[in-house]
Order: sequence, then structure tokens, then C-alpha cells
Amino acid sequence: KVKQLLLADGQSMPQEGFGLYKITDQSTITSAIKYAYDAGYRLFDTAQLYKNEAEVGIALKELNLPREELFITTKVSEPNQGFKQTITSIKDSLQKLKLDYVNLLLIHWPIERAFFDTWAALEELKKEGLTRSIGVSNYQMIHLQYLATQAREMPVINQIERHPRLNQQPLVQYDKEHNIVTQAWSPLGRGTILDNPTLNKIAAKHNKSAAQIVLRWHLQSGVAFIPKSVHEARIKQNINIYDFVLSDDEMTAINNLNNFTRVGKEPALVYEYNLKY
Ligand code: A2P
Repeated sequence: KVKQLLLADGQSMPQEGFGLYKITDQSTITSAIKYAYDAGYRLFDTAQLYKNEAEVGIALKELNLPREELFITTKVSEPNQGFKQTITSIKDSLQKLKLDYVNLLLIHWPIERAFFDTWAALEELKKEGLTRSIGVSNYQMIHLQYLATQAREMPVINQIERHPRLNQQPLVQYDKEHNIVTQAWSPLGRGTILDNPTLNKIAAKHNKSAAQIVLRWHLQSGVAFIPKSVHEARIKQNINIYDFVLSDDEMTAINNLNNFTRVGKEPALVYEYNLKY
């Protein structure tokens, strides 16, 4: 029931995936991945920064999940940016994950240092077959425009903070116009928006939870999204969103909750870059 999105490089990616941020202990990781796989998730999203790649690798091996069914994402952290460091650290990530390749490799945050070299390393890793697709995370329009001045190929994914309080409408539109799929991290705003009255009114009408309403809103907005939970019931609930439809009015009401509130850090502002183009 999870839809596959076709990426600009010809690969396909599940629209809904499972986020592994802040899950670090082995038994919790293994059980979360098992609950998620059994519930129908196939995309698992980790990062060097999450310090759980080794635990994810052990879980995937222990659970003996078929590699060809899985879509695994990891991200190069800020300290590992740079051409050589990216190549070396991603080879290390693959060893930890016990994988020959990941499906998607992202630059975790835009930073001025090694801006183009890190991207060139991703292009190289893709050429070597160590990742199927390459993309970025937390890029604003200006970063994408700057990258376009030197990239041989452009990112197929931009993974950004997105939820009803930060719907990122202009950036989502920009990504779409440039054949980049927007993928929402913290799609539930880390759970902080779930007591919102508008969401709960809509939820009651559909006999769903506020979390399911928010995830369905992402789905109907045409973006990809990766909710996280460590609880089996919530993991199941979060993928049980394919049997109802939000009306245009309901979509608009949720879009109107935008008030530019972030749960994560602000990407480097443009004036912090010495952009000379
Ligand atoms: P927990 O892991 O204890 O279930 P996001 O994906 O936006 O970062 O949100 C993740 C947060 O939201 C986690 O704290 C998670 O808590 C909580 N969460 C995830 N799914 C649900 C749900 N269906 N209902 C309520 N809280 C949820």
C-alpha cells in the first residue's frame, strides 16, 4: 500500500519510510525494525550522526531481511565532509551496516567547507556502485542553486524538516520544479503538534489519530516522509493511513497551521556563506 516514487535517476523509493533518529540501543533498534518491517515499511533512514549504523547493521542481519526489498538511506555527517573523508567514512558506514551498497546517500547539512568536494564524492560513490542514488538534506533553495553551478548531476532527494507548523511550501515547490523529491524528516514535528485542536477535529471525523491525519497530509502533499516511533502500536498506526482521504478543505486547514516553527536547527543562513556567483 505504500506508494513507490520514481526518482529522477530512474530508481524508485517508498514514499513512506521509517526514521531511526535517536534510537540507539541494540534491542530497541532490532525490535523497531522488526515491527516496522512486519507492518510494511521497507525504507529505513539512518545517518553517521545517529551513531546507530552498526546496530542497524546487526538488526538487518539478525532479522535476515531480504536486501532487494529494502531501501536503506544513510548520510555523511558534517565533520566527515570533504572528498576523501566522505569516501572513507561512507565505506566505514557500509561496513557497519554490513551492506555492499545503500540505496540513498545524503549530505546531512549544507556547510560552506568542502561544499562541492563532498558532492563530488557522492557522485564518485554512486559511480562505484556504493549507493544507488544521491541527494542532500536541509538544503535551502540557495544551496541547491549554488550546487547546480558545479555539480555533474543534481540531487534526486532533498530531505528537510517538514510538518504542519513548517510546511516549507516554497521549497517543496522549488524541489518539484527541479525534479527533486522532498522527503520530510520529523513529519510529526517530533510529536509536538499532535494535541492541535484542528488536527484532532479532523482526526475525530475520520476516526483516526492526529498522527495519522498529519501523515496523510504529507502523503496527499506529494512528499515522502519518515515517521519514527519505538512503539509497535504507533509504528503500525503510522502506516495505517491508506484507507481514507482528506478533503481539499481539510488539506487547506492543515496547510494554514504553518507558523514557521522548527523542531530542529536552522540550516546555515545564506549570509553565512561567502557566495560569489
Ligand atoms: P515514540 O518513539 O515514543 O513513539 P517525528 O517522526 O516527527 O520525529 O516524531 C517522532 C516522535 O513522535 C517520537 O517522540 C515518537 O515517540 C512520537 N510518535 C510517533 N508516532 C506517534 C503516534 N502515532 N502518536 C503519538 N506519538 C507518536
